[in-house]
This record gives sequence, C-alpha cells and structure tokens, in this order.
Amino acid sequence: MQFREIIPKGKKVFLAPMAGVTDRVFREIAVRFGAGYVESEMISSKAISYRDKKTIQLSSLSEEERPCAIQLFGDNPQTMAESAKFILSTSSPDVIDINMGCPAPKINKSNAGVALMKDPKLCFEIVNKVKKAVNIPVTVKIRKGWDSANANAVEIAKICESAGADAIIIHAKTKEQMYKGKPDLEMIAKIKSAVNVPVIGNGDIKNGPDAADMFEKTKCDYVMIGRASIGNPFIFDEINCYLSNTPYRYPSIEEKMEVMREHVFNMCKYKGEYLGIREAKRHICAYIRGLNNAAFFRNLACRIENYNQFEILIKEILSHTNPLETHI
Ligand SMILES: Cc1cc2nc3c(=O)[nH]c(=O)nc-3n(C[C@H](O)[C@H](O)[C@H](O)COP(=O)(O)O)c2cc1C
Repeated sequence: MQFREIIPKGKKVFLAPMAGVTDRVFREIAVRFGAGYVESEMISSKAISYRDKKTIQLSSLSEEERPCAIQLFGDNPQTMAESAKFILSTSSPDVIDINMGCPAPKINKSNAGVALMKDPKLCFEIVNKVKKAVNIPVTVKIRKGWDSANANAVEIAKICESAGADAIIIHAKTKEQMYKGKPDLEMIAKIKSAVNVPVIGNGDIKNGPDAADMFEKTKCDYVMIGRASIGNPFIFDEINCYLSNTPYRYPSIEEKMEVMREHVFNMCKYKGEYLGIREAKRHICAYIRGLNNAAFFRNLACRIENYNQFEILIKEILSHTNPLETHI
C-alpha cells in the first residue's frame, strides 16, 4: 500500500505529532475538523520492547481517528523493527512514522530523535529494518539538520527513501533553531526535487495563506500543522476552505466551548479525572486564548482541580460573568 492511498481524497492538511498534546482525544477531534491524517505522540520503542503497559496504552487507536500513524523513537534498528511489528499487531496503525526530528536532550543523549541525522548509515538501517518488519507504509520525520553547518536533510531524505521510506515529513528548521526563526522553504523544495515519495512540509503554518505559500514555494504534497492547532482544531477546516476557495465560518464562542468541553470530558474519561484535568490545562488555556478576559480565565483554568470546576469555568466564560464573582 502506498502512502497516498491511505489519505482521503483531496485532503492535504495533516496534524503533526506532539508529545503531551496529540493523544487519542485530540486526534479524533482534529480528524472531525478536517485533518486528513494524524499522528500519535512519539512512543519509545524501548518501552514497547519492555511491554510497558502505559506506553502500550499510549499507542492504542480508535476508528474515529484514521488514517493515523504511530510514531516511534529510538536508535536501535532491531528494537525499532520489533516494536513496530508489535504495535501493528496490537493497534493496527495505518502508518509507522520514525522520529528523526526530536531536539530534546533526553532523547538525543541516546542518539535518538534528530541525533540520528548525524548518522546517515544508522538512519538507513532503522528505516530498512522497520520497513521489512511491517506491511504498511513507513515514513520518517526529519528536521533541516543538526545545525546550519550540518543541514543534511536532502541527503537523509534520499537515504531514507532508498531504505524504503514511503514519505518524508520535513520540519524545515535545524535542531539548533528548535522552534525559532523561519522554516527553510527552499530546503523543502530541494527535498521534493530529490525524492520520488510524497513530501510533507511542516513549520510555522498558522492559517490558509501560510499553507498556500508552503505549497506554492516548495511544491510539497501535503502540509502538517503543529502548534497552531492547539486550542484551535478548527484550523484544519479553515485551511481546507482557504485552499479550495470555499467560504469559511469561524466557530462562535459557544461552539468553541462545546468542543473544549468534549475534549476535556474525553480526556477525563480515558485518563481518569485527576490526570485528565491536569493534562487538559494546557488545552483549556489554548482554547481560551483570544477571548475577552482571556488572561483572567487562564488564571482560573490553572487553578482547576476537578471536572466540576471546569464546567463552572465554561459557564463563567459563556455568561460573561463579572470575572471577580467567580466560584473557583
Ligand atoms: C509540544 C510539542 C510536542 C512535540 N512532540 C513531537 C513528537 O512527539 N514527535 C515529533 O516528531 N515532533 C514533535 N513536535 C514537533 C511538531 O511535530 C512540529 O514538527 C513542530 O511543532 C513544527 O510545526 P509547527 O510550527 O506547525 O508547530 C512537537 C512540538 C511541540 C510544540
């Protein structure tokens, strides 16, 4: 099966993998609002090989979020391949994505994430072994390189393709840049010319014009949205409408709050109220961004301890209660 075949026809805007953000609940919402493809948070191949229960839980998928990739990180080709095979048998993802872009020191210390880009031979071995272990598309997510002096994304993309990668996702910033600076669209264009598999461009897309600009300047096949979707899963519809020249209606505050409610309710359902509410705070703050009195409501959101208090917060926001008369 080719990567293109698993993507719904006409869908070109994807959700990027984000640790601590793109759990099952968020992925389901993103798909409902027009994401053509979503990815799990990065999952440790080592933890899967130990059959760590929490990690296995993290890799479970529902039918409402397909097509969906499970992203694996690690530096050992055998462990990566065995974990991919195990995950295929337990949660049947549509794609296995290999993380070659994470800049976190904790991950890079063990040569995983973007550190792999310093070792092209190892990149080849990992992709090759994973590809042989599973009968679904295998993709890689790379950065521009380690730093500006070692911006080897074109070389790595070609190596990964020769090892069997079915698509290349490129976050066009170096590890040194982290999330700063502008994405190097020229680098994405170079990769697109250098490989025959689909190329997915990523970096700093916040709206329709940004996405159109990336498509136009790089000729990439798809784009991937990360941070701009946090608290704004509606962005997929918005960009889809822009790209297809269709009118878009921004959601009302009531609609936004309803989606936020569903998001937090389901996080509590799947993770338990204690953990669900704690992990949801980042999302709640992001949904609140841009509303009247956002700073005040954000402050309240930080103090929420249970689901009831969250419902009170929604009521406060919707009724425009005098912020000083709150119950939380
Ligand atoms: C909170 C957070 C967590 C992330 N976790 C991952 C991850 O698990 N795997 C990965 O490949 N990239 C991860 N990324 C990078 C994103 O997938 C994406 O490449 C990056 O945010 C650039 O896209 P953007 O400018 O649209 O946000 C993460 C980014 C953020 C902000």
